[in-house]
Amino acid sequence: MDYETPQFYRVMRYAARADRDVVDMVSGSPDWEPPDALRAGLHEYADADPDQFRYGPSVGLTPLRDETAERRGVDRSRVLVTNGAGEANYLAMTGAVERASGSQVVLTDPVYPYYAGRANMLDAPTQYVPVDADGHLDPEAVRAAASEETAAIVVNTPNNPTGAVYPPETIAELVAVAEARDAVLVCDEVYDHFDYTGTFESALARESDHVVVTNAVSKSMAVTGLRVGYAVFPPEEGPLGELLPAARTRHMLTNVTGSRPAQSAVLHALRETPPDYYERNRERVRRRIETFTDALATAGADYTRPGGAFYVLARFADFPGTMDNVERLVDEAGVAAMPGEAFGEARAEWLRFALVTARVDEAADRLVDFFG
Ligand SMILES: Cc1ncc(COP(=O)(O)O)c(C=O)c1O
Repeated sequence: MDYETPQFYRVMRYAARADRDVVDMVSGSPDWEPPDALRAGLHEYADADPDQFRYGPSVGLTPLRDETAERRGVDRSRVLVTNGAGEANYLAMTGAVERASGSQVVLTDPVYPYYAGRANMLDAPTQYVPVDADGHLDPEAVRAAASEETAAIVVNTPNNPTGAVYPPETIAELVAVAEARDAVLVCDEVYDHFDYTGTFESALARESDHVVVTNAVSKSMAVTGLRVGYAVFPPEEGPLGELLPAARTRHMLTNVTGSRPAQSAVLHALRETPPDYYERNRERVRRRIETFTDALATAGADYTRPGGAFYVLARFADFPGTMDNVERLVDEAGVAAMPGEAFGEARAEWLRFALVTARVDEAADRLVDFFG
């Protein structure tokens, strides 16, 4: 499998060029409205004084870091504003690999392909730990996979693509493994607002020096194109204090700083958006999951019922999750999904459908017609 270049754009391009109407269920870009306050923040910024269009602090706008730090219960110094959760994850992984004597990265199978691509880009050996049928991760298997060579354990909860929400006990045990191996647990929590189980707990609750949490407003505010995220690093005065300055420097040398209008609008939205905005969107995805999984049952497929995030994995008889079959589904059914093989070996028989389209009903009908 090609972990160098994630396959999302390839599938989207194929679907866009198809000779027929296609329901796009490829990428995890919410199709609903951003918060009103976010639009208002952007409008307001257009009329700001010229000095507001100059470089902001490289680590992010101070009031945005304050707001984030308060929400996450950490000191502002630990918050670095990044170009989405993607950059935050890259900085965390790179820092972990650089600081340790070993450079091994422990990942799950299935894996969000960008982690695997980043590990490859860093020349870091990888060790994959298969998750169980429900997408849950056995910390004992992670303990067995980790060694003196382990620099980072990278996990994502709520999970893309399995929809698993790891219980707090799992996170506690993963933290313990990272501590025992002097490694870093990198926890990507970008779907934290999409927990349908009510059990999600941030890895920050462990208060460990061996944890970096990464997040963004990309999904929670339906603004994947805005590019505002953050990482919370361990305190600089602690045993892994070198991670934070290394990340700051790498961020500065790569980006200079983040987009100031985008950060300002996000700050405004964080302050002004009522909880029911997030609840409405959660409810919307929950309804889509019901519709879609009902159709999968009718079509005779095996499927996951996600506890979080936006994705449903489905397995159809004699139709493994290969790129060829994905292209066939585009051409013959008019539905574009991701091949399970793009996420590793463990779900190579499966297809991943992103439920961030208003056309979930239509896609469901098409799948029933095609497979039913
Ligand atoms: C697990 C996971 N992490 C990170 C990202 C990217 O987040 P961002 O757009 O904030 O960089 C995605 C996007 O699909 C994702 O699924």
